[in-house]
Amino acid sequence: MPREIISLDDLTPNNVGVLKKINQVTLPTTYPESWYKDALQSDQIVKLAFYSELPVGNIKAKAIKFSSKQSFENITNTKETASSGSDSQPKILPNAVYIETLAVLASYQNLGIGSKLLSFIIEETKTRFIHEIVLHVQSSNIKAIDWYLKKGFSKKEEVKDYYKDQGMEGADADAFILSIEV
Ligand SMILES: CC(C)(COP(=O)(O)OP(=O)(O)OC[C@H]1O[C@@H](n2cnc3c(N)ncnc32)[C@H](O)[C@@H]1OP(=O)(O)O)[C@@H](O)C(=O)NCCC(=O)NCCS
Repeated sequence: MPREIISLDDLTPNNVGVLKKINQVTLPTTYPESWYKDALQSDQIVKLAFYSELPVGNIKAKAIKFSSKQSFENITNTKETASSGSDSQPKILPNAVYIETLAVLASYQNLGIGSKLLSFIIEETKTRFIHEIVLHVQSSNIKAIDWYLKKGFSKKEEVKDYYKDQGMEGADADAFILSIEV
């Protein structure tokens, strides 16, 4: 399968609806409008994936301070934080890139699109001098977990009821934290 047929492009106000549509049909989580507005901010790492010019996948990530277990302290603007001039303000430097969504439409899976999106994030993480990528994945999503493990991620801990406030119950609400050093 020629991989050149797969290309990545930036998110713009004109194609943000595509990001929404892909997430709606591939992910168990529903994101609010504010999440899609945030996706257009410069501190977000977002790409749409195209297969033969059709939008079929996406990745959205951001730099965070990853301290322990369930604690993800969001860094909303890494550049500002890193260069903050005030000595009285604590300087919180991001130490991980957190993948919020990685999704490929079902009919276009296993064509190398997810791999291309992940490679992009790995390279982007390195350019920020960050050495860890982390994410949550539903504990019941065996296919995605196996996929990430094959890519070199390892399981950290399981977070019970992580997806509960998104209306999921029982085992479906549990999440594993996966991470990889890059
Ligand atoms: C997980 C996901 C992003 C992977 O994307 P994809 O485009 O199908 O992945 P790719 O085609 O790049 O992956 C191909 C590789 O994964 C391997 N693979 C595919 N399914 C696999 C599985 N169940 N277990 C292990 N490896 C698997 C293929 O053998 C192939 O390996 P190779 O590159 O060595 O030949 C995609 O399945 C998806 O969107 N799933 C639904 C949403 C989701 O669950 N997202 C993750 C939660 S954030």
